[in-house]
Amino acid sequence: MSCSEISQLPSTDIKEEEKLDEGYQKTYQKFDEIYPTLPKGDGWLGDGFGVGQFLQYQGFWIPSIPLRGIMLIHDHFKPRPTDIILSTSPKCGTTWLRALIFAIINRNSYDFHNHPLLSSNPQDLVLFFEGYIQEGGSTSFIESLPSPRFLSSHIPFSLFPNSMTSSSASACRFVYICRDPKDAFVSMWHFMNKLRARLELPPLPIEDAFELFHIGVSLNGPFWDHVLGFWKASLESPNKVLFLKYEHVKRDTSACVRKIAEFLELPFSADEENEGIVDKIVKLCSFENLSNLDVNKKVDDEKHRFIKNPEFFRKGRVGDWINHLTPEMAEILDQITKEKFQGIGLSFD
Ligand code: A3P
Repeated sequence: MSCSEISQLPSTDIKEEEKLDEGYQKTYQKFDEIYPTLPKGDGWLGDGFGVGQFLQYQGFWIPSIPLRGIMLIHDHFKPRPTDIILSTSPKCGTTWLRALIFAIINRNSYDFHNHPLLSSNPQDLVLFFEGYIQEGGSTSFIESLPSPRFLSSHIPFSLFPNSMTSSSASACRFVYICRDPKDAFVSMWHFMNKLRARLELPPLPIEDAFELFHIGVSLNGPFWDHVLGFWKASLESPNKVLFLKYEHVKRDTSACVRKIAEFLELPFSADEENEGIVDKIVKLCSFENLSNLDVNKKVDDEKHRFIKNPEFFRKGRVGDWINHLTPEMAEILDQITKEKFQGIGLSFD
């Protein structure tokens, strides 16, 4: 089973318990013990799936599989200062940033005409941390990965272990991307309805999804608290947490690519600038390019993934909320954003 398959499994069953090492078994037991005690919320996908229900854990709504992953990370993950964690609230640009960072850090390893991103979806190239740690059932698996490990995650900042988030030199580096909550919500609603259709569930009316989202019941939500955690961390430790907005990356992708490279201490040399490497990365990872590749247009039934490659792409635009939200809905989300982010220098204007 590949990392992305396990990360998307819609079930909490541990079918291969005998393969777990003792440490993992203890964490799974701990999870089983706390599971019944946690408040449950509507996971937007109906009942009966591991992802169909959110568990409220330390202030955030998390599905059971990633929550078990979080507990495994706490108990077993040994961070390295070279680790790069792409952190996102779902639907805020994970796919794009996975591609951009993968292209930046591997720019000397691949030819742009024959690049892995042309034949693989970013979910196959960048491991989903809280899913991946469950693969193999033992610590040695993730420890065997060479440095720098580049992992993608939706875990809220406060739910990472201190060893990963402290400002000490040994902690990891985080690149965070978020987005105007109105666009994030609309993107999430479309995405969940695609999954619902595949699960033969009726579409979720936007009004029902809105009722959940605006009170904080969304994937790894409340959305605003997810953003706040990384925003504050980026102010406290700018060399450890890079905070990006989808809107800025869209407006000036080249500048953001340079910023990410500098943050990762991999700045572009004068020769690379002359060769137009930044431009090549931007074009390779653009929505137009990635969404039109065969690998991202077709569903590969051989790969039993819960999320199919085409489902990561929709419009890739800023401001599409205008086509879906009523003025009242937009006003409510704007008001929450204003209240939550008041006085901290963060806005989505
Ligand atoms: P829309 O639904 O607004 O189109 P994530 O990757 O975090 O799941 O986010 C998905 C959103 O990012 C979707 O937004 C999707 O279309 C958009 N997206 C995917 N790839 C992109 C790219 N290369 N450039 C810009 N946006 C992209």
